[in-house]
Amino acid sequence: MFLETDFFQQLALTRQYLHQHPELSGEEIQTTAFIKDFLQKENITVLETELKTGVIAEIGTSDGPTIGLRADIDALPITEETQLPYTSVHPGVMHACGHDFHTTSLLGAAIILKKNEARLPGKIRLVFQPAEEIFQGAKQVMDAVDLSSWSAMVGFHNAPELPLGAIGARASKQMASVDRFFVTIQGIGTHAAHPDQGSDPIVTGSQIISNLQAIISRHIPASEQAILSVTHVNAGNTWNVIPDKFQFEGTIRTFDETLRKKIIDQMKKIVTHTAESFGQIATIDWITGPGPVNNDPKLFKQLSLAIPAIAKETVALKSNLGGEDFAFYQEQVPTFFASIGTGKGIPLHHPAFLIDDEALVYSVNYYLKAVETLFDLLLV
Ligand code: NI
Repeated sequence: MFLETDFFQQLALTRQYLHQHPELSGEEIQTTAFIKDFLQKENITVLETELKTGVIAEIGTSDGPTIGLRADIDALPITEETQLPYTSVHPGVMHACGHDFHTTSLLGAAIILKKNEARLPGKIRLVFQPAEEIFQGAKQVMDAVDLSSWSAMVGFHNAPELPLGAIGARASKQMASVDRFFVTIQGIGTHAAHPDQGSDPIVTGSQIISNLQAIISRHIPASEQAILSVTHVNAGNTWNVIPDKFQFEGTIRTFDETLRKKIIDQMKKIVTHTAESFGQIATIDWITGPGPVNNDPKLFKQLSLAIPAIAKETVALKSNLGGEDFAFYQEQVPTFFASIGTGKGIPLHHPAFLIDDEALVYSVNYYLKAVETLFDLLLV
């Protein structure tokens, strides 16, 4: 697919503008206004929704199948350290996950699709999704728009570890489920010299954290992948007082819903019973995140055949224990998700994260190729 250089130069400037003006999850007010304005200048219909941030737009006049194209639009609470001329002007906020690139890619694809609107055998819904980083945006979109009549939905994430223009997707186990836990152990505070007069939650909490690691090593088959990480611990504030409370939080990730449930069940047992054995009470607060990202088998079959035509190279993607709230859409629509190489090598969420704007060529064409291939598939 040929697109002129000027088009991509303009698009690169759009990406750089968005990069310079990042907004946190759920606060994408200016970004939303920018996207609406951009689309309206292209005569693209912006749909009225209840979304506080984020935009849904429509291209296509035919009554054929509806295909959703999704890009996330939010940034992260990170202070940028790139020295770019278009570095963030919002202190402490940065597009360090490349959602500026995703947004721009979909804006670029939208221009081309609008130009070819008369030839589209169905409808395209453009989903500029807010709040991906806090795993709330996909649910907000699903509350605001009825997806039940959509035939397919396509998304991607940039991959700085892949060569520029490389595209990959997996038949299964592409990205992991994400659950967050927060545990509170209630003991009885006392003087450090007299632990017998209280009930020390630090000893209990330490044993629980050690025992939790045995879930992965003793309950999960070695052929499967799962992670349980404790990432934050809080108890006490001085050396000679045993506190009354011990708290810790962390995350569980895996690619399989059965294992996900098994790990959570086992964790509940270890936390509750260990605390009980010390005469204490433990409570667990769960924040259930997205499930594993798994591509729809039919879409995967067709798109993995079609994508090499527009990729600089295709790559065998490794499973990634990171999460994506794109997984929520799978509950209602057949979905396809890919990784597109941006080649700069600095990891996602790093303060010096970079995107090569040349990658827009591949990401725009990815959306276009997906639309063409899916309409062919859906209209057979
Ligand atoms: Ni991201």
